[in-house]
Amino acid sequence: MRTVRTVAELREALAPARRDGATIGLVPTMGALHAGHLSLIEAARAGTDVVVVSLFVNPTQFAPDEDLDAYPRDEAGDARAAEGAGADVLFAPSVAEVYPDGFATTVRVAGVSDPLEGARRPGHFDGVATVVTKLLNMVQPDVAYFGRKDAQQLAVIRRLVADLNLPVRIEGCPTVREPDGLAMSSRNAYLAPEDRPRALALSRALEAAREAVAAGTTDAAAVAAAARVPMDELGVEPEYLAVVDPETFQPVTAVDRDVLVAVAARVGRARLIDNATIRPDGSVP
Ligand code: PAJ
Repeated sequence: MRTVRTVAELREALAPARRDGATIGLVPTMGALHAGHLSLIEAARAGTDVVVVSLFVNPTQFAPDEDLDAYPRDEAGDARAAEGAGADVLFAPSVAEVYPDGFATTVRVAGVSDPLEGARRPGHFDGVATVVTKLLNMVQPDVAYFGRKDAQQLAVIRRLVADLNLPVRIEGCPTVREPDGLAMSSRNAYLAPEDRPRALALSRALEAAREAVAAGTTDAAAVAAAARVPMDELGVEPEYLAVVDPETFQPVTAVDRDVLVAVAARVGRARLIDNATIRPDGSVP
């Protein structure tokens, strides 16, 4: 695996592949790689000829009061893990390489960026949309891989790619979980041991929502109320717990088609998110 830090080096590293007509896969990450990230790299390895992993803690998607400075960083460990999962190129640019002096453009996806995470983290999805547009233009991949763990981010990116006619296929990959159900996240590192059991409130809420739908509940408010029960039991207050349309993230009133149940909560020092798509028969696709 080759590590490159500039767009010029990246283009040079990818030139032979492009000339030979090899397909290029991109896995954008902010590092602190865990099994969820590695599953995306493995999917790219299986689906494309040349696998690029980007590692960039993107400052524009963090609000001033968020964890940009504290965000876990371990480039050497990430390089080993990415190579082990099948990456060919690690693109680890500096902030100045991505946002040189005078940078003035923001990509904003209206609508789907606004509710839930967008409402709690104003400007967050503008930062994500801007950096993802740049990464797609820098790497020019045939396929880019994203986790469904960040379902609203994935919906924002799908909208962006469709609206701007970006010539890339977006692949959404399943959420990888700890054995007890906790969705893997770089931010799980913020969980103190005494908070760890309460972190299960989110995945349990989703499971309770699924069970309610499987038992015949169709009213979205009743599904949300059922999901609330395990959270209350564990003493975790949701920032939001919503039953929404999986593409637009607008609230739905009934589970009469595939819906997305999305939840966010603070557990100790960690802000956690999770979600599940639920079919009207209560199954999970
Ligand atoms: P990051 O949080 O590092 O996540 C990188 C990718 O890994 C995202 O597509 C995310 O959805 C996926 N991912 C995270 N946890 C996962 C899990 N448990 N199972 C499966 N996939 C998982 O998301 C970002 O970085 C940034 O916003 C980025 C897209 C890189 C733009 O800066």
